[in-house]
Amino acid sequence: MARHNRIVLLGPPGSGKGTQGAILAQNMGVHEISAGDLLRTEVKTGSNLGKEIAECINAGHLVSTDLIVRLMTQAFLAPENENGFISDGFPRSIEQAEIFEKVQQQTEFTGKKVDLVLLIDVPDSYILERILGRFQCPSCGTFYHDKFKPTKVAGVCDICGGKEFAKRADDTEETVVSRLRVYREATAPLIPYYEKQGLLVRVDGTGSIDAVSEKIKEIVGY
Ligand code: C5P
Ligand code: MG
Repeated sequence: MARHNRIVLLGPPGSGKGTQGAILAQNMGVHEISAGDLLRTEVKTGSNLGKEIAECINAGHLVSTDLIVRLMTQAFLAPENENGFISDGFPRSIEQAEIFEKVQQQTEFTGKKVDLVLLIDVPDSYILERILGRFQCPSCGTFYHDKFKPTKVAGVCDICGGKEFAKRADDTEETVVSRLRVYREATAPLIPYYEKQGLLVRVDGTGSIDAVSEKIKEIVGY
């Protein structure tokens, strides 16, 4: 059993939450629950709710607190996440964290409260290059980066052999500027919030994917 089993990943867009979360989840034998992915799944259904969510995502704004708390809580309590989870991208504001705090006081969460908030620290100067270079294989979900994690064979997915790649609709320079502003204004205040609760640990996220995941391994203790 790892030292920590219910982990929130915090950090600016492009800090590596998704990449490190996937590695961590695999090594710990738990699932990564990505707030952004849950929202993008709803967008793909084409529902009215999905259309509203898409407007928020494409503007770089946060969706309603009620909605994201409901989606994430449901996932945290799902039977397959009984032994732990990695939360990527939730909570994203003090408001989300406070409501989530209340939710965690309910009996369903007994013994299942978040026990570590891992801040992946990356200065703004790294972020644009990281985000604008990233792309994904839509068939298997693997993420790549033009410079930091290219496919082994140009134009072919390492994992599934897929030949078509996609970029996130919100990975544009304009939206990134807005997402960074939202991070600074709404999300960064969670750093002192979780520090006060004694839950926060920082990791320097500027190294290579392997270097950062080694440091995370030591912190999490798996
Ligand atoms: O975490 P990720 O970058 O995938 O999130 C994409 C978008 O989803 C955010 O920019 C925001 O619009 C929305 N989101 C949100 N609340 C969260 C997580 C994501 O509104 N807790
Ligand atoms: Mg992500």
